[in-house]
Amino acid sequence: MRGILLAGGNGTRMFPTSKAVSKQLLPVYDKPAIYYPLSTLMMAGIREVLVISTEKDIPLIQSLLGDGRQWGMELQYVVQRRPEGIAQAYLLGAEFVKGHKSCLILGDNLFYSDSFEQYLSRAKTFSGGATVFAYRVSNPESFGVVEIDESERAVRIEEKPQQYISPWAVTGLYFYDATVGDKAKRLKPSKRGELEITDLNRMYLSEGTLNVIRLGRGVAWLDMGTPENLLASSQFVQTIEQRQGLKIACVEEIAFLNGFIDVGQLHQLIHSYPQCSYRQYLERMVQNPEIHMIRKPGSAVA
Ligand code: TTP
Repeated sequence: MRGILLAGGNGTRMFPTSKAVSKQLLPVYDKPAIYYPLSTLMMAGIREVLVISTEKDIPLIQSLLGDGRQWGMELQYVVQRRPEGIAQAYLLGAEFVKGHKSCLILGDNLFYSDSFEQYLSRAKTFSGGATVFAYRVSNPESFGVVEIDESERAVRIEEKPQQYISPWAVTGLYFYDATVGDKAKRLKPSKRGELEITDLNRMYLSEGTLNVIRLGRGVAWLDMGTPENLLASSQFVQTIEQRQGLKIACVEEIAFLNGFIDVGQLHQLIHSYPQCSYRQYLERMVQNPEIHMIRKPGSAVA
């Protein structure tokens, strides 16, 4: 399975903070925002990822993430000249995902839950079609929304519905079979001029192959794309990390625990970092790996 990390956009709601720097490079407590969606892909066991962003931001993101080899991954980059919709990721990434199942995540989405790997694992077990995650929100009119029947099947999906459909927002994490590229080619821009991910998902719905997984109330789904949400996300991460002494979305830790890198590679990474609390955290992990190992190294989601 391959991953796409879509990290472009206008960042209008973050202006002027997002004028010179992508919102995805802003700090969310102790690390750049983009680490959070990247770590979700890694937790799904995905090592090959295409990062899509603006012409201005790609070099900056590249200078942060590199080619991914340091984390046992392979990162490629492609420019989205204008933010013409989330589903455009599958036109820009057509070659990259050709013949593969894929997972798309939005660069401003943060997921956190003790059981999140089980959700990812469930999504990966569906043999065909698309899988989206539904999350209960108090303001569904601001999201793509899915109506789900008693047998947990999606029956309707609408982008920012003006009439109430359900409280179930579709999150920015999507799993698709290898037909997604062909479907994306058939999309037409919406009234707002974008290739809508909701229209892509509706194609699967009309084929009867749109799976929905409801995320429970113990899951945090935050979008980091407004000043309020950026601060709330930072505070959330700080609260959990300080309480537990364990980091959320520490990519080196996930790479090590998933078996993407071995202890020697982890040592090399640590030695290349300046003296800082992030480095000290990794040093502590090498000394006491059992504290971090809720599961054994190498046991990434199948
Ligand atoms: P949005 O938050 O919907 O859009 P935006 O990032 O342009 O921000 P604003 O609404 O404040 O102008 O985008 C959700 C995520 O998807 C975000 O991480 C950016 C990304 N995105 C792209 O990379 N390209 C696109 O064409 C779109 C629509 C979004």
